[in-house]
Amino acid sequence: MSSTNVLALVGSLRQGSTNRQLAEAAEHVAPADVVVNVFTGLEDIPFYNEDVDVEGTVPAAALKLRAAAAEANAVLVISPEYNGTMPAVLKNAIDWLSRPFGASALSGKPTAVIGTAFGQYGGVWAHDDARKSLTIAGATVVEDAKLSVPNSVVRFAELHPRDDAEVADAVGGILNTLANASSAEAA
Ligand SMILES: Cc1cc2nc3c(=O)[nH]c(=O)nc-3n(C[C@H](O)[C@H](O)[C@H](O)COP(=O)(O)O)c2cc1C
Repeated sequence: MSSTNVLALVGSLRQGSTNRQLAEAAEHVAPADVVVNVFTGLEDIPFYNEDVDVEGTVPAAALKLRAAAAEANAVLVISPEYNGTMPAVLKNAIDWLSRPFGASALSGKPTAVIGTAFGQYGGVWAHDDARKSLTIAGATVVEDAKLSVPNSVVRFAELHPRDDAEVADAVGGILNTLANASSAEAA
């Protein structure tokens, strides 16, 4: 069986990010036929600007993101919530990925949104907004692959998410769901 290449986009840039740790947990628990590639360099991508999104002037960092999405069979977005929605760095990535219009690298790609935030709802507003935006950008959002973990900085203060059995289990299940959705897409 061919393996599923899952592109992971993390919506927090900070060094000790609990969402980055969730991405590490995804790499750790990935089933044998799933490879998780955590994208590095979202912070290098300029704010989306149609004037520079023209052949020959697209920033290298944006091209790198588009190429990574094109190579992936599925996308896993892992994000905190900032002021009731997704962080700007993630929205910027979605905007770049949504173009060229009609030929987005996200088009039809099975995509799941998960994450952890400090609030008691675990960032569900951010995750719902990301799902809406990704859907409009052309991705096939897998609605039953959801995880919003509350109390991020407390829950993961001492315990890495990969060692949190409940979280690790849920992340593994989401990767399985994405792999199945990706096989169904390819069939
Ligand atoms: C600018 C900013 C806005 C935030 N807004 C929210 C919010 O609306 N809801 C929430 O649950 N947590 C909010 N938080 C707390 C983050 O969810 C928490 O710090 C989280 O752990 C950040 O993710 P990270 O650990 O991956 O960096 C906010 C944090 C920052 C820095």
